[in-house]
Amino acid sequence: MQRTFAVIKPDAFAAGFQGKIISAIQESGLKVVAMKTLLLSERQAKGFYHVHAERPFFGDLVKFMTEGPILAMVLEGDDAIKRWRDLMGPTNAAEAPSTTLRGQFGTNIERNATHGSDAEDTAAFEIGYFFSGLELAR
Ligand code: CMP
Repeated sequence: MQRTFAVIKPDAFAAGFQGKIISAIQESGLKVVAMKTLLLSERQAKGFYHVHAERPFFGDLVKFMTEGPILAMVLEGDDAIKRWRDLMGPTNAAEAPSTTLRGQFGTNIERNATHGSDAEDTAAFEIGYFFSGLELAR
């Protein structure tokens, strides 16, 4: 059993795709074990994406992630990290197949509807950044 961190980003949240995305998660067999809506401050968004701080797109990414509310989730299941990434599809929504969430609900490489952890260590950091131990106790 593995846990991963998932976000419905401001573009998909504002468009009202939360229900469709959560349904897709549940239909895939992954379990939503924690969930909250929040509006990130600039400081919080920068902390979340600190590994990208030196990238040229960092400023735009932080601006996008703070433009409106997001839905943060912890997903659980066997091989959850890879299964959630497969469900999302490639980072660039413009090139994502229409069978994937980013292909359906995203627009381009920045406004790509969803986020998912890419490895066990980033999942642990990202889950801990958004959720307390009490919120994850099962
Ligand atoms: P995400 O999976 O949340 O991880 C980092 C995010 O940075 C990524 O999705 C994109 O939204 C964004 N990103 C990655 N590469 C680029 C890029 N070349 N230009 C703009 N945004 C990018």
